[in-house]
Amino acid sequence: MNIDQAKLDIENLKKIIADHNDAYYIRDEPTISDSEYDALYKELVEIEKNFPLLVTQDSPTQRVGGSAGSSFSQVIHENPMLSLSNAFDIKDLEVFDKRIRDELGLEEMAYAVEPKFDGLAVTLHYIDGLFRLGATRGDGSTGEDVTHNIKTIKSLPLKLVGKNIPKKIEIRGEVVMHKDDFIKLNEQQKTSGLKVFANPRNAAAGSLRQIDSMIAANRPLRFYAYSIKSSEPIKSQEEGLEILKSLQIPVSDLSRTVVGVSQLMDYYAYIEKIRKNLPYDIDGVVYKVNSLNLQDELGFVSKAPRWAIAHKFAAEVAETEILDITVQVGRTGSITPVARLKPVFVSGVTVTNATLHNEDEMRRKDILIGDYVLVRRAGDVVPEVISAIHEKRPAHAKKFSMPTTCPVCHSPLIRETGEAVLRCNSGMACKAQKRQSLMHFSSRKAMDIDGLGEKIIDQLIEANLINKFSDIYKVNKEQLTALERFADKSADNLIRSIERSKKTTLGRFIYALGIRNVGEATSNDIAQHYKSIDGLVKQDVESLEAVDDVGPTVAKSIHAYFSKNANIELINDLINNGVNWDPIESTRHNKSSELSGLTFVLTGTLKNLKRDEAKQLIQSCGGKVTGSVSKNTSYLVAGEESGSKLNNAISLGVKVIDEEKLLELTKEKRKK
Ligand code: IVH
Repeated sequence: MNIDQAKLDIENLKKIIADHNDAYYIRDEPTISDSEYDALYKELVEIEKNFPLLVTQDSPTQRVGGSAGSSFSQVIHENPMLSLSNAFDIKDLEVFDKRIRDELGLEEMAYAVEPKFDGLAVTLHYIDGLFRLGATRGDGSTGEDVTHNIKTIKSLPLKLVGKNIPKKIEIRGEVVMHKDDFIKLNEQQKTSGLKVFANPRNAAAGSLRQIDSMIAANRPLRFYAYSIKSSEPIKSQEEGLEILKSLQIPVSDLSRTVVGVSQLMDYYAYIEKIRKNLPYDIDGVVYKVNSLNLQDELGFVSKAPRWAIAHKFAAEVAETEILDITVQVGRTGSITPVARLKPVFVSGVTVTNATLHNEDEMRRKDILIGDYVLVRRAGDVVPEVISAIHEKRPAHAKKFSMPTTCPVCHSPLIRETGEAVLRCNSGMACKAQKRQSLMHFSSRKAMDIDGLGEKIIDQLIEANLINKFSDIYKVNKEQLTALERFADKSADNLIRSIERSKKTTLGRFIYALGIRNVGEATSNDIAQHYKSIDGLVKQDVESLEAVDDVGPTVAKSIHAYFSKNANIELINDLINNGVNWDPIESTRHNKSSELSGLTFVLTGTLKNLKRDEAKQLIQSCGGKVTGSVSKNTSYLVAGEESGSKLNNAISLGVKVIDEEKLLELTKEKRKK
């Protein structure tokens, strides 16, 4: 075969194989048998072997073989990957819809409605039509590069086909495993004596987090897209999904556009009814304002958009018996009664323990050891006991009394005024709290120490190598290899992950400390606000409360934490042992002040600037941008199709300017 012929054959085979993938995975109507498919694939491999220079990135042979090296590299998302607020009933939806209509001054709102896939969020980048990067959501701002594994998903084209492919496309969606594929996979795993997965989502997650793409290639992963950002303008969510479809990117065929709350409810009822017949797991539906312009106008709060909401299905409920009740000591010392259950299968997993929350709850619900109860499990949340079936109460049922001392460290338990929970206040001196604090510190969203899990933490505590967080950074290889079942290589790996974790962000660091009531979002908010740990440590409760999203309880917890000398010493010790982060850029540096003291509201479509760009421009000139017009607004910047905000501004006597005038006001800054 000469090179020209080879080129032709390769192009031809690539196209046929891509078409078959499309027929099989997307249209669900395979046109050839598996063995015919394998033959075509083999033929391509043969030709490529003889003409290695003709192998292109979009060849199906390039789907497998990639690797993430020894670990995943980090990907900073250009636009953060957000989460969704939840609605559970019609009341929540009415509030959601009304807020949107009030904000925009509209009578009716059109929503794009879709199933909520129960998988893993990923983002995919296609540049010049070629698949270039796939990354997980991670903490929303930084994810992991899983390009090598995403490439193995055959329902995803490596090269986009069609006319006018935009230069740059970012597609977001979920990696899932179909239910029937999951069952088959688990059967195979069992026969091969390998790990059996709890549910399709765990199986998909486990597959995506493999360093070696050979493993992912043998796992039946799928992808469904729910959003697209393109270098070409798109008007609505509906249009975005159409474009995705035309690019042969899998999307759900259950998306619709509806108007008003009652149609949202109809859609919910419909999807709930067909849920069990769908090939993949879903945990609810998602409603999104259809117009992307209006989405822009509504913007975000904290980590979730104002223009979308997830309407979750009610969690599955099952009946079982309480065999015993014991208590568990939480990371912050909270003592929780836990029901030990006769194993019961709920939403895909076998549940053996369920929380009873606290003593008051247990008494209020009148739950005894031996009772028949209903338990509920929703998503990744800990299963809970909802109620006892009192009619079935057996004669031997007996009351459980809460202990007066900590079951682990035996110090007396305290119930603070106004609190429902009983607490052990021994902190790191209590082994249970120490263990869980260390697990939290090492967890992915905190210091992300790969390989430092529950078992190893237990071993390190037992060997008295770790008493506080900073001890992690003092452990050496000899100490590790001296532990039971610790090979040379695993010791090296762990030392390497510990070393790698030293480089972090201020937000993660604050979160890792495990301050009571301070979660991931709050940690990031206070990091952004104070920009340095020194800045944060010396704040009083009042100034802490001034941070967005920090209320009195959280402010008090933060203050209490930093008031303890031991905690300050710990932070210093961590920093002295190499934990570091890049300084958070103080925006004041290159901020000019032309607009300082002025408040702007944006409305309608501007000719040149996107809404985000206009907002950034105003902020970089020291101005503030808010969502709605009030008498404190200095200027309303109105573009085309301005709605009620324009009327409001006029009636309040707020100055209305156009884009040109805004550009003029910010001229000095733009020159720099
Ligand atoms: S939209 C800004 N649409 O749910 C809005 N998310 O709770 C971002 N999810 O991690 C998401 N199905 O991965 C959207 N049809 C759908 C979805 C969906 C599943 C996931 C998403 C995200 C999580 C948010």
